[in-house]
Amino acid sequence: MPAQLTLLVGRLSDLPVGGVLTVNPPGQQAISIFHTEDGLYAVDDTCTHQDASLADGWLEGCVVECPLHESCFDLRTGAVSGPPAKRALRTHRVDVRGDEILLTPSADS
Ligand code: FES
Repeated sequence: MPAQLTLLVGRLSDLPVGGVLTVNPPGQQAISIFHTEDGLYAVDDTCTHQDASLADGWLEGCVVECPLHESCFDLRTGAVSGPPAKRALRTHRVDVRGDEILLTPSADS
């Protein structure tokens, strides 16, 4: 099993509640980190329905709504909470150390 890479991707002070930070880790597709009222959650940025960036969507609580056809995803689990998407998003580990946002991309494909 390959070692998991943890990346310093930003500063918490630069990511207010309601904000989103999109990063492109090496060898991975884009990952978006959403700052919800419950904390930070990281998921693949591309909607599993078609090709839309969820960073351009709408955040409500821990749910993000896709800007293209309005699928909803629970950021805590990646699960679809509203159609038309059927496949869950990959989730990724995100930690905060002081003011640093640390992302550990999932090794699952
Ligand atoms: S691309 Fe996201 S719902 Fe269609």
